[in-house]
Order: sequence, then C-alpha cells, then structure tokens
Amino acid sequence: MARAKISLIGGGQIGGVLAQLCALRELGDVVLFDIVENMPQGKMLDIAEVARVDQFDVNLKGTNSYADIAGSDIVIVTAGLPRKPGMSRDDLLGVNAKIMKQVSEGIKQYAPESFVIIISNPLDAMVTLCQKITGFPPERVMGQAGVLDSNRFCSFIAWELGVSVRDVNAMVLGGHGDTMVPIVRYANVNGIPVMEQLVRKYGEAKAKEVMTAMVERTKMAGGEVVKLLGNGSAFYSPASSAIAMAEAILRDQKRVLPTCALLKGEFGVDNYYVGVPCILGAGGIEGIMEFELDAEEQALFDNSVAAVKGLIDELPSILPDMA
Ligand code: APR
Repeated sequence: MARAKISLIGGGQIGGVLAQLCALRELGDVVLFDIVENMPQGKMLDIAEVARVDQFDVNLKGTNSYADIAGSDIVIVTAGLPRKPGMSRDDLLGVNAKIMKQVSEGIKQYAPESFVIIISNPLDAMVTLCQKITGFPPERVMGQAGVLDSNRFCSFIAWELGVSVRDVNAMVLGGHGDTMVPIVRYANVNGIPVMEQLVRKYGEAKAKEVMTAMVERTKMAGGEVVKLLGNGSAFYSPASSAIAMAEAILRDQKRVLPTCALLKGEFGVDNYYVGVPCILGAGGIEGIMEFELDAEEQALFDNSVAAVKGLIDELPSILPDMA
C-alpha cells in the first residue's frame, strides 16, 4: 500500500517540528513548503540525514513549489506571522488573511482531495477563510487549537494536584482567543471531579480561587510562552497537537478531540467555525459530540463565538474581492 502523503505549508518554527514528528512517527512521506527559498529544502535535508539514527523510512522533500503538494492526503498549514510580545492573536488578522488566501488557492489547485488542518492564527478566522476559498466540504477543513488549549488546562490541573497528566481529562471549547472557554464542570482525574479534589484540599472558597487561576492561565497560556520566548510563539506544543489530529485521520482512530469545526446549529451556533469536541477519523470530522452546556458555560461560549464573529466581519475589508 502506498504511504500517506502529508504536506506542510509554512516551514517556520511549527512547520519544522511538524516535519520531524511526521518522520519520527512514520506517518507518511512529507513535503515542506515555504516561500523562503532554500530554507524548507535545508530543514528537510537536516531531518532526512538522521533517518538511520531515528529509524524511519519516509521520503522528505522541501520545496518552494505548490506543484509538489499534489496528491496530499493531509495538508497542515502554519504559514503566517506569529505574535510578538504584547500582541493578541487577533492582531495578526490583516497580514495572515492575505497569506491564507494564497495558501488556500494553492491547496485548492494542487491538493483538491486533501484534509486540511490549519494552525495559523487567528485560528477560527483562518479556517473559515480556507474553507470558503477551497470550497472543500467542511468535514475536510478544520483547525487545531482545542487540543493544545485543553492540554494546557490538563497540565495546570496535573501540576496543582500532583498527579500524572495522563490521568487528567479537561477540555477547552470556543474560539482560540482570550475568550476561550475551559469547561470546569467536567474536568476530572480518571473520572474523579477536579473541583471536588480542590475543595477537599483547600475548602470551598480557596478551591474556587485556585480553579479560577488555572482557567485564566489556560486562556493566556499562549501569551505566557510568547512573553518568555521574546521572539515568536509556541511551536512544539501546536505541532504535537496537530499531529494528534492528523494521526487520528490517517489511522482512522475515531478520537474525540476538541477541533475548530463548522457548526450547523450545534451548541446554538449556525455557520461559524469554533472549537467543539469532534470525532476524527478517516472521513475527517465524522461527528460533533454535542452536549448540554449549563447557563454560565453557554454564556461564555456565546461570548467567545461573538469574538469570532467580530473577526469574520472584518474579513471583507481585508480581502475586498471575497466580499
Ligand atoms: N506561503 C507560505 N509560507 C509563508 C507565506 C506564504 N504566503 N508567508 C509566510 N510564510 C512562512 C514564513 O516564511 C515562515 O517560514 O510561514 C512561516 C511561519 O513560520 P514562523 O514565522 O516560524 O511562525 P510559527 O511559529 O511557525 O507560527 C506560524 O502558527 O500558531 C500560529 O500564530 C502562529 O500564525 C502563526 C503560525
């Protein structure tokens, strides 16, 4: 059977880690595309030259030509500027929307059968644009944000409780911005509610304070990394998170992962891309796992969707020919 083909558009910080992870996991042959000449070729040569040490048998190619992504099963997009300290993801809209237009046209022309996973920010708006421009069915165009945001929340809970992060389950829904919604009510350690553990440890009032601090840290976690790096944004964690999604699709795992997906009435949202739990398998987004939000969660979720809508409303002024 032929190997899967994975194309990575954007060969910067995240793109390079994505390429290495694809190789290490032997997910398939990998093409790394960037507009910068020679750089993607250099990165792929660098990774390929350690194949014997890492024991992988896949072909790796760096390129500046979209023609090389032909026949891709999955395309993962990181093209675009990352934030600088003090910037929000939304501040990237103007410049990254123009880049996303070019990229989407390239994917549409050369990889029309592919599944597309977007990482570029502001995420929900970039996924919306890509789906509009490619015209691909929504189950084939999705965004990575929730896997990482949820993992950040899980990490903070694990550190607080002193337990293995492998046993923590917690999800973050909504748009991938400062209004994202960590779901406290269902956060658990192997089924045991996190809140109950915090109350036992600290008592009612302090437990709430501790949880609120973890929720706030989750919402600002990307910015925390941006500030520490000083130049650029998180790259190991978004790469690993997108690989989990790509692997779920390529290996038909039916994993339930928070994914930026087009909603058609689910969670009370019509025709907007935001983060919700999705079943990812060979058909891409094979289902959206809707569940009842309580009044407070729904209000926070609606607020987050409103922030996404605000960005979408700005797109026509940035790309007038798309209006
Ligand atoms: N087509 C293809 N690649 C492009 C284009 C374009 N039109 N414009 C820029 N790029 C490339 C750059 O040359 C660069 O190599 O995108 C790459 C982006 O890499 P980095 O600047 O290192 O950014 P990275 O940290 O990888 O983040 C990429 O993902 O998480 C988001 O907010 C982040 O939007 C940012 C994106």
